[in-house]
Amino acid sequence: MTDITADTATGASAYAAAYEQSITDPDAFWLDAARDIDWTTPPTRAVDGSRAPFYSWFPGAELNTCYNAVDRHVEAGRGDQPAYIWDSAVTGTTETITYSQLQEQVAAFAGALAAEGVSKGDRVVIYMPMVPRAAIAMLACARLGAVHSVVFGGFAAPELAIRIDDARPKVLVTSHGGIEPTRKVPYFPMVTKALELSSHTPSTVIVAPRHTEFPDETLPETPGVTWSYWDDVVVDVSPADPVPVAATDPLYILYTSGTTGMPKGVVRDNGGHAVALAWSMWNIYGIRPGDVWWTASDVGWVVGHSYIIYAPLLVGATSVIYEGKPVGTPDAGAFWRVASQHGVSALFTAPTAVRAIRKEDPEGSEVAKYDLSAMHTLFCAGERLDPHTHQWATNVLGKPVVDNWWQTETGWPIASNLRGLDPMPLKAGSPTVPVPGYDLVVLDGQGNELPAGEEGNLAIRLPMAPGTLAGLWNDDERFLSSYMSAFPGYYSTGDGGYIDSDGYVFVMGRTDDVINVAGHRLSTGSMEAVIAKHPAVAEAAVIGVRDELKGQRPVGYVVLKAGEVRDPEQLRAELVEMVRQEIGAVATFRDCTVVQGLPKTRSGKILRKTMRQIADGQSDVPVPSTIEDPAVLDALAPFLRGEK
Ligand code: COA
Ligand code: AMP
Repeated sequence: MTDITADTATGASAYAAAYEQSITDPDAFWLDAARDIDWTTPPTRAVDGSRAPFYSWFPGAELNTCYNAVDRHVEAGRGDQPAYIWDSAVTGTTETITYSQLQEQVAAFAGALAAEGVSKGDRVVIYMPMVPRAAIAMLACARLGAVHSVVFGGFAAPELAIRIDDARPKVLVTSHGGIEPTRKVPYFPMVTKALELSSHTPSTVIVAPRHTEFPDETLPETPGVTWSYWDDVVVDVSPADPVPVAATDPLYILYTSGTTGMPKGVVRDNGGHAVALAWSMWNIYGIRPGDVWWTASDVGWVVGHSYIIYAPLLVGATSVIYEGKPVGTPDAGAFWRVASQHGVSALFTAPTAVRAIRKEDPEGSEVAKYDLSAMHTLFCAGERLDPHTHQWATNVLGKPVVDNWWQTETGWPIASNLRGLDPMPLKAGSPTVPVPGYDLVVLDGQGNELPAGEEGNLAIRLPMAPGTLAGLWNDDERFLSSYMSAFPGYYSTGDGGYIDSDGYVFVMGRTDDVINVAGHRLSTGSMEAVIAKHPAVAEAAVIGVRDELKGQRPVGYVVLKAGEVRDPEQLRAELVEMVRQEIGAVATFRDCTVVQGLPKTRSGKILRKTMRQIADGQSDVPVPSTIEDPAVLDALAPFLRGEK
């Protein structure tokens, strides 16, 4: 267990006591936290390890997540308070939805889903831009006990098809399209193509229209599917009441990138999720009921699920839904404009967004144009908050900038500075300390715990905190092999790092082939699989190299088949287009070089880590002794270093 006691440099006694109890007596700690949730059957136990390493939370208890996020606040007199404020910088629109209005709209849409045959346990795929109806669709599923699976709008048709086939939804909810600063992204071609590619077919597609932005689109016709507009399906339906579900029943599936092309369907439960997220809002983020909170992310990512849609509403706060970018919609003052206009108490975004603002406005002169007096903190997550960015944001805002480290799998922070529970001194480059519930350790390759300051694999002793993944959808084996087998008794995070002698955590990056581009988690393996389909390509490696703005960017190296001669620029353009078509623009795949060979171990594994280290300009990169032919690496090195 991490050694943080009252007399360490942090002086963090409230934290130390909470952390200690959460690890030594998780039942007492989390049953106490569970009192902030309304249950139809209250829990009597917190953690259930009878199927370890599959842990579940609050066995025997029942609740409805939507009731906790919406109805109970109306009943408590918050009906007229804004639940969501939609601020669409790309359309110049703002809209406020109060808790009462939200209750009405969610109940109506849940009624419409029920009329389409959706009930408890059924899946609904949601492929939506950043509009309030994305949130309403998610909450409507939760109301029925149905399981939503939101797919990020930047993914192309084949990625949507993979998720449709895995989740097997009864209904797909979509829209006319999304709006990027430089172009409109129509969804109908993507959805119809995905339906063509998938073997499973949902019976209904419901479209939240954007007639003004997409005036020429008409509803498609696809075999076996009824396409309807949202506004039509809610007419004359009976509003649906919240359906109590088991705390252990799934609330959603969120697919995330693994090391192979097939994404992992992270399953989130209802009870643990509600308790953990509600606990986090005050203890981690310092947010109280009635505060205005803004997470500038996308509903397609876990940060969007947890901190745009669910957590702020679980505690009766107001959540801003922003459709826009940090820059270009229209300028680098966009975030400060939104924060001041809506009286935001705390803003949560990805470091990339801060770097994008810094690039356009290095002096931070846009900040001075807006009244940010309501804002107490800037939170960052999604990728490492590098010390330079941390320092810049702290200087220009004059407010604490707080990093927090977590993953799709955990659903909420593993490490943070706990702003409500016990604020601690900030150290640039560190997300501070393990959050109560997470027994975080650093392990060497053999699973031995490493002392303070030594870098290794960040792992969490089981059980993890409530709200963390309950499993992978329909794939227990992959759950075990991905997370539980490297270090038995621990969850392996896939991140490397260390914990210093003050107990501060430093997360240095992934230890696998997952990369993080602009706060978006991507699989190099899936890009390699796409590139390898090109008729001229014999083999390919994609690595994530350091990028000033986006943290990392994918770069491909391809070996051509014997006898193939291609114009390098033409080939690059073809491969880039293939990745855009197969994975989506979000892959940000732009660089690709033809090389003579790829360095491999004697068992045929490409030495991607060694390649990445050279490309990142590291000196004295150790060459594994298992390398098959060192000459191949020597020949490739100038390409990796950008000298050729
Ligand atoms: N729908 C369709 N396309 C999308 C999309 C969406 N929801 N989101 C991104 N894309 C497209 C972009 O238009 C871009 O396309 P292009 O190659 O044709 O220009 C491509 O995907 C890459 O997008 P991105 O990596 O976001 O780059 P960008 O240059 O458009 O924007 C930033 C850069 C830094 C402004 C942007 O990445 C950002 O705001 N990042 C914050 C990330 C974040 O919130 N992460 C969530 C975790 S907290
Ligand atoms: P995702 O599942 O998309 O949230 O991505 C999770 C991964 O992003 C983690 O495994 C880390 O590699 C990285 N990550 C997220 N937040 C941080 C952070 N605060 N510091 C360092 N890395 C982070």
